[in-house]
Amino acid sequence: MTLRLFVPADAGALAVGSDEVARALQVAADRRKAAVEIVRTGSRGLYWLEPMVEVVAAPGRIAYGPVTAADAESVLEAALGGDDKHPLHLGKPEGIDFLQTQTRLTFARCGIVDPRSLDDYCTHDGGKGLGRALQMSPASVIEEVTQSGLRGRGGAGFPTGIKWKTVADTAADQKYIVCNADEGDSGSYADRMIMEGDPFVLIEGMAIAGIAVGATQGFIYVRSEYPHAISVLNDAIHAARRSSMLGRNIAGSPFMFDLEVRVGAGAYVCGEETSLLDSLEGKRGVVRAKPPLPAHKGLFGKPTVINNVLSLASIPIILAKGATFYRDFGMGRSRGTMPIQLAGNVKYPGLYETAFGITLGELVDGIGGGTRSGRPVRAVQVGGPLGAYFPRSLFHLPFDYEAFAKAEGLIGHGGVVVFDNTVDMAKQARFAMEFCAIESCGKCTPCRVGSTRGVEVIDRIIRNDNRADNTALLEDLCHTMKFGSLCALGGFTPYPVMSALTHFPEDFGAPPKLQAAE
Ligand SMILES: Cc1cc2nc3c(=O)[nH]c(=O)nc-3n(C[C@H](O)[C@H](O)[C@H](O)COP(=O)(O)O)c2cc1C
Ligand code: SF4
Repeated sequence: MTLRLFVPADAGALAVGSDEVARALQVAADRRKAAVEIVRTGSRGLYWLEPMVEVVAAPGRIAYGPVTAADAESVLEAALGGDDKHPLHLGKPEGIDFLQTQTRLTFARCGIVDPRSLDDYCTHDGGKGLGRALQMSPASVIEEVTQSGLRGRGGAGFPTGIKWKTVADTAADQKYIVCNADEGDSGSYADRMIMEGDPFVLIEGMAIAGIAVGATQGFIYVRSEYPHAISVLNDAIHAARRSSMLGRNIAGSPFMFDLEVRVGAGAYVCGEETSLLDSLEGKRGVVRAKPPLPAHKGLFGKPTVINNVLSLASIPIILAKGATFYRDFGMGRSRGTMPIQLAGNVKYPGLYETAFGITLGELVDGIGGGTRSGRPVRAVQVGGPLGAYFPRSLFHLPFDYEAFAKAEGLIGHGGVVVFDNTVDMAKQARFAMEFCAIESCGKCTPCRVGSTRGVEVIDRIIRNDNRADNTALLEDLCHTMKFGSLCALGGFTPYPVMSALTHFPEDFGAPPKLQAAE
């Protein structure tokens, strides 16, 4: 009998040697003339256990990790002999706490299926959303998405159904679906994981979007730093065309929708939707003034839906299981699940998909296990380089768009970067301002000039040069950037800067703030 082994080929697993492990497993199998099939999957998102190898055994899949090439012989031996005493034996992956406590809706197949196999996708419930959408009117598909409460996972949290309806209601000879896969946020990797581990869910979501709004062409704008995702996506698109999931007459229907991958060139601002459109059109990525909205005049001046990878990858399950199923997860106006990415100085880094409402403390201290260094957690930055730094006193905050906004922060794309008590928050504030100065597209003055002046002011505060006056000046500058910038790059940079100053004043030479729940 052939033994099936699953070895991730996700960039995170490759970086720690999963290719070498796959090769060593094959060599070990050949040596003992054992028949094995090695399936290259995406990652389950338990990155401290990568490379995590799974084998099909009597009770289901059994995991081993982290496996090195040197472990290949003994892991294979244990797998063939059904020995559960191997030191890297983890048991059923679904039984590992980090996975067991998740609600995997968007990431249900990630790490399980062969990402290049449409058959595997369909065997694991893929394609059902598209099937149902094709039996509904486009307007009812949009209504289903609206009722699900899905909000854009790219950062702004705008209701997806309303965006789709605006495009559907705009008459034009050509409309587009653009998937934003620029994923520039620090500590974020959920888009990459989906593209490398379950690309058909994104393709299916985009096809449903096309049918719903009347768009026949889509583009996935992927950052150039994601070569593995680009390769998997291109293979998956070809497979989808061959099986009429894409192309003319989708699944025998009168609808047409096709897709192409376009590769970015490494500017953070090209993740902003209007500069992304400029970049897609072959121009330098510069933010466009709104109105017109991309939904009215987007790519090549045509009505365009621009959605993040996770927003589009959430669509198939919403259509397959219905709006009520999805909206029953979550809290307040934050419905469904959020794939949260734990990164930085954290003991258990990985992707944790759960319903909105989990607190920051539960995530960082509980799920993440605190810091990798073993030192106390001092600050957590949520939502990428434009997100606030939260102190422990705000660890009661639930993951909810409104709760985070009220605390002068944002959920953004769900990236959580953990820092221990060796962090210098004045340096972090400077870093945030400098990042804005480097990445600014230059279109508006508060961001282009303000960020450079901001770095200078923070440097003066750090040097204790007229500290009180310069601190007041920094607050004033941040106010101008927040309310005077054209886009969120300049507009949100005040979040990391001001949160560092407000919550960690002692790092700027002021007396420490009294922390309620230190
Ligand atoms: C500077 C900047 C960078 C951004 N980067 C990304 C990104 O990498 N990916 C993304 O989906 N959205 C990004 N956004 C948000 C997009 O402008 C836009 O809101 C999003 O793609 C819309 O999709 P959604 O409604 O599905 O979230 C960025 C915004 C700004 C201001
Ligand atoms: S805020 Fe910055 S990035 Fe955004 S438009 Fe203005 S200059 Fe460009």
